[in-house]
Amino acid sequence: MNDTTKILASWIGGLCLAAGAASAGAVDAELLQKCTICHGDRGISDEPAYPSIAGLPFQLQVDAMQAYRNGHRDCGPVPRMCKISQELTDDQIRELSAHFAEFEFKPAEQPFDASLVEKGSVLHEDYCEVCHGDGPEDAEKSILHGQWAEYLRYSLSQYRGGHRDQPPSMRRQTDKLTDEDLEALVNFYASYR
Ligand code: HEC
Ligand code: HEC
Repeated sequence: MNDTTKILASWIGGLCLAAGAASAGAVDAELLQKCTICHGDRGISDEPAYPSIAGLPFQLQVDAMQAYRNGHRDCGPVPRMCKISQELTDDQIRELSAHFAEFEFKPAEQPFDASLVEKGSVLHEDYCEVCHGDGPEDAEKSILHGQWAEYLRYSLSQYRGGHRDQPPSMRRQTDKLTDEDLEALVNFYASYR
């Protein structure tokens, strides 16, 4: 290597390092604020209509944003969420999803109907546990335990109403359940601390 190629090689090396750091590191503060205003600083929402997204698996978040963007999932009472997905690049979606996936989920402190919890717990075991697990820590497929009840009730109704694509294997289970069963499940998830 002569001097010029050495300098060039170290310069390119430096560029690669910088690019690597940017993709794994801090998200632009202004961009982040577009999300934290509703989902909370570390993805823990204090508004029952807005889901907490801390610890939600990266790919689920990316899929959700794409579903909002292409209209497979509508945003009912909060159109801003869907509009924002249209303002983001694919890279920004990946950056934000990686960012929120890093945080630890914290169950919401919320009231629930204690008389429905046992029924909900049995239904969860029989119909939902195989995919949704025992708690937020083993959520590969969305976090239900400790998520806001208002949001869960709403998302179940979005599936039932055809406003959101329901995974067929999940539909086979929820189709067997009545609205009262779903309400028991929601109260069981809301009781999780
Ligand atoms: C105005 C409030 C608001 C803002 C701002 C907002 N969201 Fe949301 N977000 C919501 C609501 C409400 C939902 C549920 C919408 C639905 O599915 O109908 C949601 C859903 C989501 C979901 C899917 C969660 C799940 O459990 O499936 C992700 C991921 C998400 N938001 C990420 C973001 C990111 C990233 C940003 C910033 C670019 C953002 N949101 C900005 C209110 C907001
Ligand atoms: C075969 C696997 C499977 C089973 C069984 C299953 N689910 Fe799901 N569930 C999923 C997947 C995958 C997602 C994420 C899909 C999506 O983004 O719409 C999901 C998402 C959800 C959501 C949306 C959460 C959110 O953050 O928006 C709710 C609510 C839900 N499931 C409830 C249930 C309930 C209640 C049961 C039992 C009656 C159940 N699921 C059974 C796979 C399953």
